[in-house]
Amino acid sequence: MQPEFLYSLKTIAYIIASATFIIGLKRMGNAKTARSGNLIAAAGMTLAIIASIFIHVNKTADGYETVETSGFIYTLIFAAIVIGTIIGWVTAKKVQMTKMPELVSMFNGMGGACAALIGLMEFHHNLDNTGALLAIILGLIIGSVSFSGSVIAFLKLNGTMNKPVRLPSYNIINTLVMIGVLAFGAHMVFSGTHSTTLLYLLFASALVYGILFTIPIGGADMPVVISLLNSFTGLAAAFGGFLYDNKVMLTGGILVGSAGTLLTLVMCKAMNRPLSNVIFGAFGGNAASGSGPDVKGSIKDLSVADAAVLLNYSKKVVIVPGYGLAVAQAQHIIHELEVLLEERGVEVKYAIHPVAGRMPGHMNVLLAESNVDYGKLVEMEDINPEFDQTDVVLVVGANDVVNPAAKTDPSSPIYGMPILEVENAKHIIVNKRSMNAGYAGIDNLLFYDPKTSMLFGDAKKVLTELVAELKTM
Ligand code: TAP
Repeated sequence: MQPEFLYSLKTIAYIIASATFIIGLKRMGNAKTARSGNLIAAAGMTLAIIASIFIHVNKTADGYETVETSGFIYTLIFAAIVIGTIIGWVTAKKVQMTKMPELVSMFNGMGGACAALIGLMEFHHNLDNTGALLAIILGLIIGSVSFSGSVIAFLKLNGTMNKPVRLPSYNIINTLVMIGVLAFGAHMVFSGTHSTTLLYLLFASALVYGILFTIPIGGADMPVVISLLNSFTGLAAAFGGFLYDNKVMLTGGILVGSAGTLLTLVMCKAMNRPLSNVIFGAFGGNAASGSGPDVKGSIKDLSVADAAVLLNYSKKVVIVPGYGLAVAQAQHIIHELEVLLEERGVEVKYAIHPVAGRMPGHMNVLLAESNVDYGKLVEMEDINPEFDQTDVVLVVGANDVVNPAAKTDPSSPIYGMPILEVENAKHIIVNKRSMNAGYAGIDNLLFYDPKTSMLFGDAKKVLTELVAELKTM
C-alpha cells in the first residue's frame, strides 16, 4: 500500500480515537452515561493501539518514511500486551470497591513510570535536538515524580503509611530539591552532555522528589495530591506524544493532564487550600495529624427501634454517606431505606461532600450502583443551608466530612476544610462501628453534641435491621 495512504489511515484512526476520548470524558461526567463513556474511550484506545502497532509510516521533510519492524519486536510488543492485559483484567475484576482508590493510584503510577522509561530510552537518540531533549527530560522528571509519588499515595491509602512523615523544615527542603531537580534537568538539556550516569542520577533525584513531595501529606489532604499526581502523569504522557509526533498520545496526555488539573482545583476548593500551598509542600502542615479537640461530654446511644421511630415521624431526612458506607457495601440497603421512607411521605436527600470516601466522586459512584436517583444527591454548598430545616440527619460511615473541628479548631489538621454542617439539624443519628477516628485520625465533637445519638454497628447490618423495623411500623 502507498505510504501516503497508510499515513492518512493512521491519522484518521488517531482523530477517531481522540474524539472518543473527548466523548468518553464528557459521558463520564454523569453516572448514567459513565459506563458507556468508559467503553467508548476504551474502544478508541484500542483503535489507536492497533494503528500504532501496524502502521509505521512517518512524515518527514522529504516525504514519507516507512520504518521496518522485525518479528522479534512484534513478539515483544504482543508479549507485553498479553501480560499487561492479564494483570489489568484480573486486578480490576478482583478489586473490591473500597480498594479502588489504591488501584487507581497504582495505575496512575504505572503511567508515570512509562513516561519516565521513554525518557531513559530516548535520551541518547536525540542528543542533537534540543526541542526533543526538552520533551524527554520534562517527561522523565514529571513521570518519575508521578511514579514514586503514586506509590507513596498507594501506601497511604491502604493504611501502610498512615502517619505523615515530616522532616525538619520539610517545606524548605522540598522546595530546594524541586529547584535542584529542575536545574539538573536544564543541565541535561542545554549542556550537550552524553552522560548515562547523569541521566540515571536525574531519574533517581526525581524519584526522591516524588517521595518527599508526598510523604508529608496527612490529615484530609490526600485527595488534592492524588488528583495532582493524575495531572502529572497526563502531562508526562503528552511530552511522549510530542516526542514521537504521536497525536493520539499527545491528545490523551493533554486530556488527562487538564482533567487532572481541573480536578486538583476543584479538590483545592473543597479542601480550602490554595494551589500554591500544594505545589510548595506547605499544605497539611498547619497542625500535626492525630491532634484533635479536647473531648468533653458523653455520648448517647440509640437503639434501632428508636432510630426507626425518629425517622418514620420525620418530614425531612438527609443521609450523609461516607467511607464506611463503601466499606460495609451498604449502598443497596440505604437505597431501600430511602424508598421506604419516601413511600411514607418523608422527603429524603443525600448530602455529598466532595472528598467523602477515598476517591473523587466515590459516593456518587457507590450510590449509582444501587440506582439512587441522581437528582437526590445534593452537593455540599446546596445542602448546607437546608440542614436547619431538616428533622433527622442520618450519618452513615462518615466522620471527617462532618467534623466541626474543621470550623472551630485552628490546631486541627482539617481546619479550614468546608464540612457538611449537620449540627444545624434537629436530630443527628451517627452510624459507625466504634468511636474510632476517620482518615484524618482525629476525634469528632459532633458525636458528643446533645443533639447527636450514636447508632453503633456495621452499616449494612444496622441499616438492614432499621429497614426491617420500619416495615413493622
Ligand atoms: P472517614 O473520615 O474516613 O470516616 C469513615 C468512618 O467510617 C470511620 O470513622 C469508621 O468508623 C466508619 N466505618 C468504617 N467501616 C464501617 C462500617 N463497616 N460500618 C459503619 N461505619 C464504618 O470518611 P469520610 O467522612 O468519608 O471522609 C473521607 C476522608 O478521607 C477525608 O478525610 C478525606 O480527605 C480523605 N480522603 C479522601 C479522598 C477522596 S478523593 N475522597 C482520598 C484520600 C483521602 P468505625 O471504625 O468506628 O466504624
